[in-house]
Amino acid sequence: MSSHFLFVVCQVGSEATVKNEVARKHPSFRFSFSRRGFLTFRIPDEVARDRKFELNCAFARTWGFSLGKAVGTDGQQLAREFWKPFVERYPADVLTQFKHLHVWQRDRFVPGDSEFEPEITPLAEGIGELILEHPPNVGTTWSLPLNEDAQIDDRVLDCVIVEPNEWWFGWHRASTVETRWPGGVPCVDSPENMVSRAYLKIEEALRWSELPIQKGDRFVEIGSSPGGSCQALLDRGCVVTGIDPAEMDPLLLANPNFTHLRSRAKKVERNDFKPFRWLAVDANVAPKYTLDTVEAIVTQPEVRIEGLLLTLKLTDLALAAELPLFHKRIRSWGYRRVRARQLAFNRQEVCVVATDRPN
Ligand SMILES: C[S@@+](CC[C@H](N)C(=O)[O-])C[C@H]1O[C@@H](n2cnc3c(N)ncnc32)[C@H](O)[C@@H]1O
Repeated sequence: MSSHFLFVVCQVGSEATVKNEVARKHPSFRFSFSRRGFLTFRIPDEVARDRKFELNCAFARTWGFSLGKAVGTDGQQLAREFWKPFVERYPADVLTQFKHLHVWQRDRFVPGDSEFEPEITPLAEGIGELILEHPPNVGTTWSLPLNEDAQIDDRVLDCVIVEPNEWWFGWHRASTVETRWPGGVPCVDSPENMVSRAYLKIEEALRWSELPIQKGDRFVEIGSSPGGSCQALLDRGCVVTGIDPAEMDPLLLANPNFTHLRSRAKKVERNDFKPFRWLAVDANVAPKYTLDTVEAIVTQPEVRIEGLLLTLKLTDLALAAELPLFHKRIRSWGYRRVRARQLAFNRQEVCVVATDRPN
């Protein structure tokens, strides 16, 4: 039996969804261990050897090859333990090819609950510094940046703080936008006057999806109140329309680049969507309602929306299994590239981005 393992980090509460998704996409993997927000799987030898392997799971915030754990109360001892599996496996010239050290704590709560937001905590930063203070002797100077974004193809040493006295070790190759971020969480500088946490969500969605939005682009959001996402879009220089029967924050109403259509989406004339390049939906309704609403808009011949950024609320977690069907439906509208991710700043919801629609 293989002795190789993979670790997956996810939102608290998404563990069963990750297990199901991994079972569907990688039937040869065997679930091994889980805590809230953290899982490991036994993987076949050939997957462990495949340096181009991609997990491709929407509910995995990030993942890596697991090299085990250490448990104890002496931080310095744990820091020395961190290096052992790497030194045992890799000669110095290979070890020094690792470019980054990422150290983070698993989530304690669902993002947005108890004022919790995923981030690099002072504890994780302190543990990272401790690890760097106890480097192995590699016979050369080797400096590893701590908790900085990696570049594509960089190899990254990972330490997941599952408990303050239980550290899990591993590594990954940064192969996608989100695997470049420590713990799969982007570092978003939120403004002091942030209107709502949807600001964090849309910032992450834009960075992850790499939508080529430009200053002056017309963006419409359905489900825009109180206005955090519109605020982020305005900060990026977009001209924004928010559609919502609820009130918008006065900060937005005072912005000349913002228009509020105080209405339910279905009451807005389809032709009114003609000027927009991008459409976001963040309405607290079931996914089917969101998809029905968007379909009625984007299938109008005169509406040429280039990209969609949809928050699908998983009113029931079982809806996660329907993601492939949602993708198929969105592709049938002409969007050739459809991707989904449970963003670090999402709650019980998933972000779906659709692009590549021929003109
Ligand atoms: C999660 S909040 C949106 C947060 C918002 N994106 C922000 O940036 O602050 C969900 C919103 O969806 C709105 N909503 C629900 N159904 C809607 C519909 N059919 N059309 C437009 N808005 C809708 C609700 O009024 C509510 O304000």
